[in-house]
Amino acid sequence: MMHKEDFWWRNSIGYVIYPSAYYDFNGDGVGDLRGIVSKLDYIASLGVDLLWICPFFDSPMDDNGYDVRDYYHVNPLFGSDEDFRLLIKEAHARGIRLLVDFVLNHTSDEHPLFQMALRHPKGKEAGYYYIRKGRRRKGKLYPPNNWKGYFSTSAWKRIEGTDKFYLHLFSEKMPDVNWENKDLRQYYYNVARYYLDLGVDGFRLDAVSHLGKDQSFGDSELPLDEDGMVLDSSKFANREEVFSYLREFREEVLDHYDCLTVAEAGGCLSPEDSLKMSDKEKGSIDMVFNFDCCWCNGAYGSIDKNDNEIHTDVLALKRNFKRWYLATKDHVSSLPLYWCNHDHPRALSQYGDINFRKESGKMLITCLLFQYGTPFLYYGEEIGMSNVTYKSIRDFDIDISAKNASAYFKKLGYKDDRILSFLCRTSRVNGRQPMQWGKKRYASFSKVSPKTKVNPNYKDGVNVEDNEKDPSSILHYERKAAAIRKDPDIHKMIFEGRFAYIDEANYDVFAYCYFHKGEILSVVCNFRSRNIEFYLPNPMDEVLLHNYDGYSYAKDRLILRPFECLVVKGKRHG
Ligand code: NOJ
Repeated sequence: MMHKEDFWWRNSIGYVIYPSAYYDFNGDGVGDLRGIVSKLDYIASLGVDLLWICPFFDSPMDDNGYDVRDYYHVNPLFGSDEDFRLLIKEAHARGIRLLVDFVLNHTSDEHPLFQMALRHPKGKEAGYYYIRKGRRRKGKLYPPNNWKGYFSTSAWKRIEGTDKFYLHLFSEKMPDVNWENKDLRQYYYNVARYYLDLGVDGFRLDAVSHLGKDQSFGDSELPLDEDGMVLDSSKFANREEVFSYLREFREEVLDHYDCLTVAEAGGCLSPEDSLKMSDKEKGSIDMVFNFDCCWCNGAYGSIDKNDNEIHTDVLALKRNFKRWYLATKDHVSSLPLYWCNHDHPRALSQYGDINFRKESGKMLITCLLFQYGTPFLYYGEEIGMSNVTYKSIRDFDIDISAKNASAYFKKLGYKDDRILSFLCRTSRVNGRQPMQWGKKRYASFSKVSPKTKVNPNYKDGVNVEDNEKDPSSILHYERKAAAIRKDPDIHKMIFEGRFAYIDEANYDVFAYCYFHKGEILSVVCNFRSRNIEFYLPNPMDEVLLHNYDGYSYAKDRLILRPFECLVVKGKRHG
């Protein structure tokens, strides 16, 4: 086994890029790999040394690349295989490591293996997928069971001209593959070896929770939705088999490379169960992304709510960060931390406030960056990008999950304006708008009209160019924050110090500290758009980071202004 003893990722700052939205180098309205190469100096300037790039493999793009048609080639929309090799080389030259998004729970229905499976129902490829007979009732054909998938439809799609269906937990153009099949597993191990041999530094493992299914394919007994189906994760999330598949993956492939693996683990994985994947001794992979801090404002499934009913639940945020910290600290080398990725609305719109863009953008970066784990920033967070301002639900049709959700809610009788405000608040389209590089047309993202609309707020300073010029910008603050986070003394305090919340029951302020060798590092973040009085018993000898000028502090009381945050260091007295 290659040795990973230094756990280099503990000291890394990650950055997530959605390739179609980062920078359009060849001028066709879509971001591409050469676009990323051309921005590597900028990326390095953020203190980032670990990139996770969402899928760029050949794909019909039904789910924007998560529907892979050919794992071994770059989608021409994003460039060439040569461009990818260049990206690895140039990233490494700047000390930036690269994670490939490895989609191993499903292929595209246009993948040759699935095409073979359709053509030869008795052939070996048919065993690579879940193909089952439908059920007949009163002469009508129904799916094999009542499972609903993650994209608001049945988890089964009928194979035309037959009485059979295939399982797809996501888009119907993404048939799930059968990890119980030994040959199928070998197929994926070879793909992984191919990328590791090319020089990538590891993988983000897509939808890994779902590799194991309840192979009896019985109906769920949970209460059914209006459409007679139900999304019952227990049938296909975090089942025991997943952990043994991952063990084999490690033994056959990962152990032979010095690489990092970060699993995406949805389906309500508990921190304790996540250790079956990522325990330093007994696990198979290095870190597990959880979803617990993504929706702590009640927005998830909030179709019946109005915007003014959505509030950040700071206590829930603290509870969730803490339960992952406590469960994993003694077992794993690290814990990935993030506010947002391409599957979520923008963090600034969720937990910050566009009326306090600078203050809340800086506060969110601070709150995340100094926690125990490996922070992953999402592109655009460093300049305060926020949710879309679309006026029509049709604008969301660029994403298959939003499109299906609109159709579902329409069928249930919801009016367009309600669906629109729901999507504006929750849709992942929010996190996929073009990066705002400058003030020129299309936010200097592309020379032609981009396939995904640009957020008009690029004209109001939400762009890299203006951020560079403004010494008080989020961008400059992020660079400073990243440098402090990487300071060896601060790193020691975070990883070796004793962690505690300050006034844990406070429902407005997220404040925490580390005690280490007589010193205390305190991080105080006001999550509200109003002044909050906060009792800080810790010493404030040195202010390392602050998103306002000056502060009001007397007799251990801070008067925090809207979204004010501080990182302070001090010696323990007495
Ligand atoms: C998780 C990915 O992050 C998401 O974008 C995708 O739609 C599903 N997995 C299916 O691959």
